[in-house]
Amino acid sequence: MTTSSSSQGLACIILAAGEGTRMRSGKAKVLHAVAGFPMIAHVKRACESLSPQKIVAVLAPGAEEVAAAVAPHASVVQKERLGTAHAVLAAKDALKDFKGRILVVYGDTPLLRPETMSALVGQKAPMSLLSFESDKPNQYGRVVINDNSVAEKIVEFADASEAERAIRHCNAGVMAFDSALLWELLDAIKPHNKKNEYYLTDAVGLTRGKNLICGVVTCDEEEALGVNSRTDLSVAEAAFQKRARHYVMELGVTLHDPASVYFSADTKLARDVTVEPHVVFGPGVEVEEGVEIRAFSHLAGVRVKKNAFVGPFARLRPGTQIGEEAHIGNFVELKKAQVDAGAKINHFSYVGDAHVGARSNIGAGTIFCNYDGVHKHQTDVGADVFVGSNSSLVAPVTIGDGATIAAGSVITENVPADAMGVARARQVNKPGWAKRWRSSKKG
Ligand code: UD1
Ligand code: MG
Repeated sequence: MTTSSSSQGLACIILAAGEGTRMRSGKAKVLHAVAGFPMIAHVKRACESLSPQKIVAVLAPGAEEVAAAVAPHASVVQKERLGTAHAVLAAKDALKDFKGRILVVYGDTPLLRPETMSALVGQKAPMSLLSFESDKPNQYGRVVINDNSVAEKIVEFADASEAERAIRHCNAGVMAFDSALLWELLDAIKPHNKKNEYYLTDAVGLTRGKNLICGVVTCDEEEALGVNSRTDLSVAEAAFQKRARHYVMELGVTLHDPASVYFSADTKLARDVTVEPHVVFGPGVEVEEGVEIRAFSHLAGVRVKKNAFVGPFARLRPGTQIGEEAHIGNFVELKKAQVDAGAKINHFSYVGDAHVGARSNIGAGTIFCNYDGVHKHQTDVGADVFVGSNSSLVAPVTIGDGATIAAGSVITENVPADAMGVARARQVNKPGWAKRWRSSKKG
């Protein structure tokens, strides 16, 4: 028996050329997102964490978006969808000079852990598979294990007898092979089954036929989840979120109501961050120590620095940075906004394409008018500025350090440092006017 170990070179093949018919979608199955990232991006990341020499994705013709999701790694095209073994063959040319371990993983299994994949790659056997036990194995391939606890073969659901369908050991779809053995096995796989496909899963029986042992690594059912339908996708999302909530709490984050907080796969929260109920983290969020994120806030593409306050009901959009101890209050929307340390934007404001200097106060109902209907423009507010309530700052415009804007102003010209900008009609009081008007109505 040949032996191998994880010290050998490693290459990964990600299969993603399937039709995904059961998703009933106009887009490729592996592009459907879990925790804000396409499923294939999760698989790619797990593969990358094993530091392989090469990652090759197998895609359907014309799947440019999928190729972009696996970039910078190579992708090859499986011209016809003739099954998982046929798909692996499509990667042969790209790996012709590679010798070592080849890990084959499916692009529709977004919950796989790097540790599990690494355990599989580290097996001594020339071929190993990942298996899990299930009380409801549905349509997974069944792993037939003999009395000596050796995996004899995999039987696909469509081809399985009643007795085989009763088997609880399922194929998770991840397999590791010595490269020479893999190419040898693929040559021997034929489409002798109900679907008339070249099944990669036949590799197990063929390995046993050579009198070699097929290694088996087990994981739990949730980790192995293969997403084939929208229902599976929702199960994957729920499982990911449960994992993420547990993970951030282990890191020292307080979640008042974990089940109502949603994370992206790349959310970074430092210790002593507090998150109130019903908060959504879209992609690209990083939050530093001591920040409080209050209820019903939505953040995406944002960095929040130490001890700042966000929300309740705040919307922080991509390109935004909140400085240390800054306060962003209720019904405030920020887009591409840099808010410096100690600044306050506490009530009902839109701040887009802007810089707000340290300690400045943006009053209730301030709107940064960044869009002229054709182009976006920048607003620069200096440090220690006071913007009175219900003001509009029409970009491009600059407000100097220490300036004050009178409430209700529509500011269209720059305001120098330490000046007061007022841009509204002067008030006129007409003595007795209201009383006279009421009398005239009484007739
Ligand atoms: C497959 C396994 C099954 C296992 C399950 C785990 C086979 C024959 N069956 O079934 O034993 O329990 O995964 O989730 O392998 N693909 C291609 N080209 C093809 C066909 C498929 O690239 O011609 C890709 C798909 O994009 C997908 C992966 O291979 O990422 C698996 O295909 P899928 O149709 O989802 O197989 P399952 O029925 O889930
Ligand atoms: Mg599948």
